[in-house]
Amino acid sequence: MSKNILILPGDHIGPEIMAEAVKVLEVVNRQFSLDLNLEYGLLGGAALDATGVPLPEETLSRARQADAILLGAVGGPEWDKVEAALRPEKGLLGLRSALELFGNLRPALLYPQLAAASSLKPELVAGLDILIVRELTGGIYFGEPRGIRTLENGERQGYNTYVYSESEIRRIGHLAFNLARARDRRVCSVDKSNVLEVTVLWREVMEEVAKDYPDVELSHMYVDNAAMQLVRAPKQFDVLVTGNMFGDILSDAAAMLTGSIGMLPSASLDKNGRGMYEPCHGSAPDIAGQGIANPLATILSVAMMLRYTLNQPEAAAAIESAVSQVLDAGLRTADIWAEGDSRVSTTEMGDAVLRALES
Ligand code: NAD
Ligand code: IPM
Ligand code: MN
Repeated sequence: MSKNILILPGDHIGPEIMAEAVKVLEVVNRQFSLDLNLEYGLLGGAALDATGVPLPEETLSRARQADAILLGAVGGPEWDKVEAALRPEKGLLGLRSALELFGNLRPALLYPQLAAASSLKPELVAGLDILIVRELTGGIYFGEPRGIRTLENGERQGYNTYVYSESEIRRIGHLAFNLARARDRRVCSVDKSNVLEVTVLWREVMEEVAKDYPDVELSHMYVDNAAMQLVRAPKQFDVLVTGNMFGDILSDAAAMLTGSIGMLPSASLDKNGRGMYEPCHGSAPDIAGQGIANPLATILSVAMMLRYTLNQPEAAAAIESAVSQVLDAGLRTADIWAEGDSRVSTTEMGDAVLRALES
């Protein structure tokens, strides 16, 4: 039966990297007879400019009907002055929340060919394979009350609320432990339970969840130490599970261990494994329009979509192996380029992945 994939290119480099990911998706669609039907929608700044809102009703209803969603990136400085509720990022957050995409998988995997591009010494990152499991629809990103208010003395005060309910912690915990079973069976839960009550509860609930997985080892770490350990000795980690904001920050740091944020894909899953797939990076306005953005994070997000939602592990593996072949051949976009490599543009990188797939 035909499956609908909703493509949301977004802003700045979003459309540039998406064009390459779509080329790849179309080739595997043919090669593996996947019967995928691609449709396009507006999200973020592009949607705001065209319709007045960052998440139009039409996009939301198509997203609900789609079998999977592929997203580029949203946002940019031209929308910085827009009121908070209409910012491009609100469109993305609204979509994650409406579809209950609570489970964000961010695998930081070092392709051995890129050891020299990592900001850490090669011996610290050789063989790196970390999975960050970030809670995506709760925590301080969504807690109420929130806003900016004026105090009696006339001074303004900004405030947000960091909340997690037991059920939210439990479901992300189960996801992390289940994923650990297919890996090295070690979960490190990252919190700030020495200061924040919400994460005292987080730690307690993780301990409870762990009882269902006697074959998986659970450890705990404070987030400040976790940030330090990630750049000191990242290979100590297998699965990291953490809340929305800590996961956002730690995954950008982990990205750099793999050579570039342009390499890190992600999956955002609901309880049935339906999902949205996107690179971890943003819309990179500083390099938009130059044809130099790395499309591999988005191309690897296509592979995650094939693996996690569409149940096509062979097609996923074909893409991952094509990426590896291209790196073997020394082709690099600017962000992962080192002396002796061949420098390629966004489009040339996409074309090289296509050639590897077709060879
Ligand atoms: P960013 O991730 O867009 O860029 C950070 C740095 O990494 C920049 O120097 C950029 O050039 C570089 N970079 C990012 N992706 C790259 C790629 N594929 N290839 C090569 N270099 C790449 O983060 P930012 O600059 O803080 O944010 C820019 C905008 O993107 C903001 O509006 C932000 O809100 C938004 N954003 C969106 C998402 C998303 O849509 N999921 C994620 C993060 C940030
Ligand atoms: C990400 C981004 C988003 C987040 C923003 C754009 C809302 O940084 O996907 O990592 O903070 O979740
Ligand atoms: Mn982020």
